[in-house]
Amino acid sequence: MCGIVAAVAAGGDVRAAVLAGLKTLEYRGYDSAGMAVLHDGAIQVRRKMGKIAALEEELARDELPPSSLAVAHTRWATHGAPADRNAHPHRDDRDEVVVVHNGIIENYVELRERLAAEGHVFSTETDTEVLANLVGARMRELGDLHAAVRAALEEVEGAYALVAMAVSEPGTLVAARMDSPLVLGVGKDGRYAASDMPALLGLTRDFVVLENHETAVLHADSHVVHGPDGAPLERGVTRCDWTPEQAERGGFPHFMLKEIHEQPDVLARTAFDRCRDTEGDVDFEDDFGLDDEALRSLKRLRFMAMGTSLHAAMLGQRLLAELARLPGETLNASEFLYSPPLDEGDALTVVVSQSGETADSLRALREVKERGGRVLGICNVRGSSLAREADHLVLTHCGPEVGVASTKAFFGQVVALYLLAIRIGRARGVLDVARGQQLLHDLRALRHQLEGLFKEEALAPVRAAADYLAGVRSCLFLGRALGHPVALEGALKLKEVSYIHAEGYPAGEMKHGPIALIDADFPVVAICTPGRVRAKMVSNLQEVRARGGKVIAVAAEGDTEVAAAADFLLPVPEVPELLAPLVDSVPLQLLAYETALRLGRDIDQPRNLAKSVTVE
Ligand code: AGP
Repeated sequence: MCGIVAAVAAGGDVRAAVLAGLKTLEYRGYDSAGMAVLHDGAIQVRRKMGKIAALEEELARDELPPSSLAVAHTRWATHGAPADRNAHPHRDDRDEVVVVHNGIIENYVELRERLAAEGHVFSTETDTEVLANLVGARMRELGDLHAAVRAALEEVEGAYALVAMAVSEPGTLVAARMDSPLVLGVGKDGRYAASDMPALLGLTRDFVVLENHETAVLHADSHVVHGPDGAPLERGVTRCDWTPEQAERGGFPHFMLKEIHEQPDVLARTAFDRCRDTEGDVDFEDDFGLDDEALRSLKRLRFMAMGTSLHAAMLGQRLLAELARLPGETLNASEFLYSPPLDEGDALTVVVSQSGETADSLRALREVKERGGRVLGICNVRGSSLAREADHLVLTHCGPEVGVASTKAFFGQVVALYLLAIRIGRARGVLDVARGQQLLHDLRALRHQLEGLFKEEALAPVRAAADYLAGVRSCLFLGRALGHPVALEGALKLKEVSYIHAEGYPAGEMKHGPIALIDADFPVVAICTPGRVRAKMVSNLQEVRARGGKVIAVAAEGDTEVAAAADFLLPVPEVPELLAPLVDSVPLQLLAYETALRLGRDIDQPRNLAKSVTVE
């Protein structure tokens, strides 16, 4: 899950623009980075283990010469440990070609052995160096970089987004894509390529999304996309409505905190234009493409996703059951591939993904389609693979999410699923106009109620609980019904950014084993907000306290009964039960953030993680 960026411009110097683009991609991988330029007929490379800041120090110490052509890369290691030698860009052994690559070449060992037998010399453990030598060899046969890249890729198995440049073609970049994301930027001063659009927002807002098996030849004033058969293709330009500022921290110390604070706006951006208050209904954009008849014909739903999106999907399943009386199941996308084929006829599969590029979720989507099923994508990135391959689409309008730990995207997904439940409930006659109007009214009212979560009186208890939690090694998150996926998500957030072991559990399950873990050093975080399950949750708190366990409880402001049963109470405004997950998850996001802050963790780029997991 690396980040790549490249530029070719008419004269001038692209080094700074490429480095700026690379920095916005750091969330994709941050164990080493590098840049290469073409200058005076030679390839020059600078690369360094560690964050992009280490590369900047290296560039300050040993500057790259100015160039109108450059490629750069930030790495999340798959083949070859994080080290200077394994950092990208990678050249061929004759310094004629240089490549940056995101993905995995599955048959690289076999190719490497063959190339070594042909006399090629390797100096790294990476699969990408094999690619560079393959392109170099083909280049010497074919004398054309585009032809060489296409010929080399015919021998490659696996996933790739790559950009190559060659000494013999100083004004050319060649890009190629298979399963890993790659967009082309169309600017007035140049052409660009990158793993995602935010990396190029400082240069252009006009993009061409490269599809699988496509290649592109970029020159400063032109770009040609070639199809799987090599023939040139007419490809339209997509305008990105995100602003460069949205991809910046905006004065917050971390993207995670900025994105947590953006959630009231995410609610407005994702929902308010779609609410039809008079009809008590919801209107999605054309991408949705499911009319009442289609929605009435549905017999069941299957939700699939990974990580935080999986927790949103679990909430979606419950909301659709509650408001549309549609039965469903939620599956971990990577497990779906091994499930026996069932009749897909009357089912709709809902794939939820922030990035739209998660390999496990995309494989599951393609498997459903292969089995004859239909897929509705809930996604945050227009132009992503999910957005393009799903039969039906609902975009969450969260703006770019940069913090590796997903927060506002989870929120946007749950809002979109709540809207979906209303739309299907209305179409199937389960909800009448009045009920629909009430549900929309409640949603609109939430925006103001959310603001209260960022007031000092709500933040102070979170900080106090974080002071305590920063001292523990392990804990349990408990919730019931809609609170269960919220507990799973709270536990995931804490794990991701603080590295404290945390498990989310349905509270009823506690007595069947996990209660054995509870003692003075093993606390419980519990979701005890108003609704059908609150009383049962209060009993669970007392069971924990009876065994000396500390309790951190999310509960309604002024809930004295919960306050009496908890050591720390994280207050939330009282909202309708179906909307509680949107409110309850915020103090849990802040708790994880504040705990990680106290432990001095790298909150936006936690160890071993990457924002978009593009390999299985
Ligand atoms: C969540 O904080 C993590 N970044 C991770 O679990 C993430 O949710 C998962 O990889 C799915 O990503 P997606 O939503 O982009 O598909």
